[in-house]
Amino acid sequence: MLVVQRLDGRVHDRKGFDCSEPSLNRYLHELASQHHRAGVATTHVMVDDMLPSKILGYYSLAAAQMSLRDLTQADKRRLPRHPIPVARLARLAVALDEQGHGLGEALLQDVVKRCLGLRTELGIHALLVDALHERAAAFYRRYGFRATAADALTLYLPLGSTG
Ligand SMILES: CC(C)(COP(=O)(O)OP(=O)(O)OC[C@H]1O[C@@H](n2cnc3c(N)ncnc32)[C@H](O)[C@@H]1OP(=O)(O)O)[C@@H](O)C(=O)NCCC(=O)NCCS
Repeated sequence: MLVVQRLDGRVHDRKGFDCSEPSLNRYLHELASQHHRAGVATTHVMVDDMLPSKILGYYSLAAAQMSLRDLTQADKRRLPRHPIPVARLARLAVALDEQGHGLGEALLQDVVKRCLGLRTELGIHALLVDALHERAAAFYRRYGFRATAADALTLYLPLGSTG
């Protein structure tokens, strides 16, 4: 069964992960655990519980803010004028030999679920992502992410209203 777990260097083989994107490989190999400890970003990995050392995919999340100017006219309605609190999906990657089998979508669903859970404790209006390139931006647009006014590769997904 596929499960998403907090990155644990004692269990998960970080060096064995390869998604073909050097910056995303390097982040997991060298920085993710350090950033997690320092409270800079949290990293969660997807593994098969029968082989928990092999990282199939991962994502990193951090607190961030967006300018109201970056939202579409419709999304701006009823929001205060000060910066909008959001969660930044700082990184998302699936291992090369696992790509195209729905894991990216499953990780994204997990991110949204986690952010909705966090919203009971902290204001998080949307999920923000900096896509590495147009191909990645196309992946996010499929799930309702829209480009910010400032940059077509910076996209956001409003998390809707609760209660
Ligand atoms: C981009 C990435 C995370 C997608 O994960 P994945 O597991 O390969 O994607 P999935 O199998 O879950 O695909 C879900 C849907 O998105 C589509 N999709 C996948 N990659 C896409 C892309 N680059 N552009 C548009 N659509 C894409 C798939 O065709 C699938 O649609 P379908 O169900 O109609 O066939 C993964 O390919 C990856 O890690 N790539 C290298 C690193 C990278 O570029 N990360 C993005 C960083 S910003």
